[in-house]
Amino acid sequence: MLKTPTITCIEDFQRLARRRVPRMFYDYADSGSWTESTYRNNQVDLARLKFRQRVAVNIENRSLRTTMIGQDVAMPLALAPTGLTGMQHADGEILAARAAEHFGIPFTLSTMSVCSIEDVATNTSQPFWFQLYVMRDRDFIRGLIDRAKQAGCSALVLTLDLQVLGQRHKDIRNGLSTPPKPTLINLLDLATKPRWCLNMAKTTRRTFGNIVGHAKGVTDLSSLSTWTAEQFDPTLCWDDIEWIKKQWGGPLILKGIMDPQDVPYAIDSGADALIVSNHGGRQLDGAPSSIAALPAVVSAAQNRIEVWMDGGIRSGQDILRARALGAQGTLAGRAFLYALGAMGQQGVHRCLQLLANELDVSMGLCGHTDINQVDRTILTNADLFD
Ligand code: GLV
Repeated sequence: MLKTPTITCIEDFQRLARRRVPRMFYDYADSGSWTESTYRNNQVDLARLKFRQRVAVNIENRSLRTTMIGQDVAMPLALAPTGLTGMQHADGEILAARAAEHFGIPFTLSTMSVCSIEDVATNTSQPFWFQLYVMRDRDFIRGLIDRAKQAGCSALVLTLDLQVLGQRHKDIRNGLSTPPKPTLINLLDLATKPRWCLNMAKTTRRTFGNIVGHAKGVTDLSSLSTWTAEQFDPTLCWDDIEWIKKQWGGPLILKGIMDPQDVPYAIDSGADALIVSNHGGRQLDGAPSSIAALPAVVSAAQNRIEVWMDGGIRSGQDILRARALGAQGTLAGRAFLYALGAMGQQGVHRCLQLLANELDVSMGLCGHTDINQVDRTILTNADLFD
């Protein structure tokens, strides 16, 4: 048995997850579409923003507390909706939701989760957010929205950038399916992941819990790409968003806004927040990084809608950079998925501690004690993406 390495950063979790999570699910998380250039640039561009080090100011009593759509959060971060989270680790959505609630930040459950809305609600004590994909079957969408309401979800996150699926080469090569098919290659791989297998043997949650048994005629969802192609509604437009807003009746967050021209529509839709997001580089490869797209969206929003950002967040410093360029909040997907795959709930909790600590110390070294006072003046090159 290899010794568990000391964990100091998200990359440590990533290395451990690569060892512990079956290849097809690790690869599912660690990929972007086509050349993966947008996936890479999300991180690369964040690192190009440099901090101004300030000294000899009192930086005792620092606070990271802020709000996202009026909800108190321990730091400006929510766990992003990620598909198949329950395949990174058995019962993954429940474990991540518990870690998030323990830490005091929101958890977002994906439509394409393994644990169902009801499962997560039963096994947590704080309201979580539900992410919705719009499918052709509007009765099913209405049903999903009602289920999210019944479960006490406190916001609906509507993803707008995945009505058709960007190709991820690794998923095709690996024959991604949930659960994995018993091919020789998969069995050989699973034989090297005993911890994952043991935990998975102890749970019954192994397929898409929100879909199977709920969507008409859907019994086998093993192929995500085929199902997406058949069911996701490519006709989705702003009028549908009005309909969804009415059905839901609560806080609405629009995910996938990258262009300032789309911002007025988002404002007019009555949404409470928008997320500058290229789906973690998994959809339109060749699109700008999220951090590069952020300033223009912030300026188009004119404080009429809250602006958040996801894509490339792997450290507390990344959260600070996004905040400096005007994101009221951020979301992280892969950072917590690697921690979950590596060490389950304890891993996600540790991941949040690492992010918060780095955010706190870096903010202090920039001469600030309150995250709500941080703005672009903490950067030496804040105009990099103007
Ligand atoms: C689904 O959200 C995906 O990006 O695979």
